Amino acid sequence: MPKLPDEFIRQLQDVNDIVEMFRSYADVKKRGSTYVCCCPFHSEKTPSCTIYPENQSFYCFGCGVGGSAITFVQKMENVGFMEAVQILAQRSGMELPKTDPSEQKTADLRRRCLEINRETARVYFANLLKGSDRRGIEYFRQRQLSMETIKAYGLGFAPDDWGQLRRHLNSKGYSDEELVIAGVCRRSEKGRVYDYFRNRVMFPIIDLQGNVIAFGGRVLDDSKPKYLNTNDTPVFSKRRNLFSLHFAKKAASTTLILAEGYMDVIALHQAGFANAVATLGTSITDEQARLLSRFAKQVVISYDSDTAGQAATQRAIQYFSAVGIPVRILQMEGAKDPDEYIRKFGAERFRLLIENAGDVLNFQLDRCKEGLDLQTEMGQNEYLRRCVRILAEIDDPIRREVYCNRTAKEIGIRMDTLLMQVDRAVRQGKKNAGKIQFHAIEAQSLQRDELNPQAQQFPRESRAERMILAYLLKFPEDLEMVWDVVRPEDFVTEFHRKVYETVCQRIGESSEFSLSLLADVFSVEEMGRIMGIAAAYMEIIPDRDALEECAAVLRNVRNRPAVSDDLTDDDLRRLTEKRRQDG
Ligand code: UTP
Ligand code: MN
Repeated sequence: MPKLPDEFIRQLQDVNDIVEMFRSYADVKKRGSTYVCCCPFHSEKTPSCTIYPENQSFYCFGCGVGGSAITFVQKMENVGFMEAVQILAQRSGMELPKTDPSEQKTADLRRRCLEINRETARVYFANLLKGSDRRGIEYFRQRQLSMETIKAYGLGFAPDDWGQLRRHLNSKGYSDEELVIAGVCRRSEKGRVYDYFRNRVMFPIIDLQGNVIAFGGRVLDDSKPKYLNTNDTPVFSKRRNLFSLHFAKKAASTTLILAEGYMDVIALHQAGFANAVATLGTSITDEQARLLSRFAKQVVISYDSDTAGQAATQRAIQYFSAVGIPVRILQMEGAKDPDEYIRKFGAERFRLLIENAGDVLNFQLDRCKEGLDLQTEMGQNEYLRRCVRILAEIDDPIRREVYCNRTAKEIGIRMDTLLMQVDRAVRQGKKNAGKIQFHAIEAQSLQRDELNPQAQQFPRESRAERMILAYLLKFPEDLEMVWDVVRPEDFVTEFHRKVYETVCQRIGESSEFSLSLLADVFSVEEMGRIMGIAAAYMEIIPDRDALEECAAVLRNVRNRPAVSDDLTDDDLRRLTEKRRQDG
């Protein structure tokens, strides 16, 4: 398998500083000689992701993701090694050497899909403005979209024709197969290929790099389904993208507005709120919440005012709370969605709604009234019961009291009666939380180690191996000495042996070792594990005796049953510490 020259990979790493790369996704803070931030790959409120500028690597102690700049891109863009390299090279204007055929093939396919999407958007746009069928442009006019808005979003029209797009793209050299993969055409059971979107106004979906990656298409009347969306393709995942995020991230605001529909976002944009986004035909996912958290310090949820919209708001709140972004909830009266609201009442009134959007607690307390008749005793009791449950979840006692006070007044009961009930619910809740945590820990310890299944059987040896690997990763210049002390065949667990072998080999053949040289051999998960090993022994010091002891542990393994668990990570660390003092 032809591979990229080491020199190229290292250069790529040199010009793409990993700290800078993190900065565009997270709030990075310096801590000693390293940097920390909240992990962009899992939901957390306190930072557990560490970036090591010294060897241009990172490791998240929370979720175990780690590696080099290449791993970072692989994970972030959900692409393979080769494509990650391409993205980095493109970013830094480096020419790519020619390489691995299979990855090249997927990269090529993605490129073709993007070209097809772009060309499709052009065709739809031309149909809208110049086509003989004027229904598309009339539809947008009737919905009061300006020419400027139509152009900014590249809106379009797919006519009532089963083959217009296909014929055009075929003539440009794109095969039927490619059109089907890109999602702009479909293949019938009989094998006939036809345009997927027909008789619809079209909304291109654009990613952060400005690529057209998919489409949403709306009918011109009340027929069903109202919208068709591109299914997932090699360049599109509806769970990982957001409509209009490329505009919203440029908007001079740290607040993002999350609306339900394409038309809402476009109407908001036209009214001067460029910081609006929407999901793509699904309810919000945790990936999208995390994506938003990269660009927003706060999110204003502005879903439809109907029951479905309110239920969706509730779900969205949970996702945002997991990611740790503050949320406010905008409530509308007299209109079903932002688009209609702005048409009826104007942009200024909508700005007021944004400013007055309440926090999550207000929203939840408000919702407690839903479906209840507060004039009856039964209704009041149920309302009280629901409120107590919510009030009990407020961690801060002062805040809890403030909200209790307000609720007590509203229901018309005494404050201390309410507080008593809430306190009782808090105690009950703590009991349950303890139970849940216990089960989680138990479940975790029962989990199999998929990457290194032998580690559980040989815990002691596995630790010794980890320490040897950490040593080599920290001091690659000591390769000869380490190799003298321990050989791959001494390793007991296969995964560690493979890592050792590979690292030794890569150090041996390159003039200067760097972690990114491992990224084409190991998967993203494996890179995370390797970084975890390096991170656990960051403080390791050069010491041959300590290595010898680890090697001895490995050599002895076949002579005795591997059950004892006496040499812990801490023991090893203490051992090296002690040596340092002695020497
Ligand atoms: P809405 O029905 O609220 O659409 O659905 P809208 O954007 O406000 O459109 P108008 O104002 O009626 O023209 C909200 C979103 O849900 C998805 C689309 O993403 C839509 O923008 N949706 C809706 C679908 O994917 N398919 C459907 O059939 C309906
Ligand atoms: Mn609407």
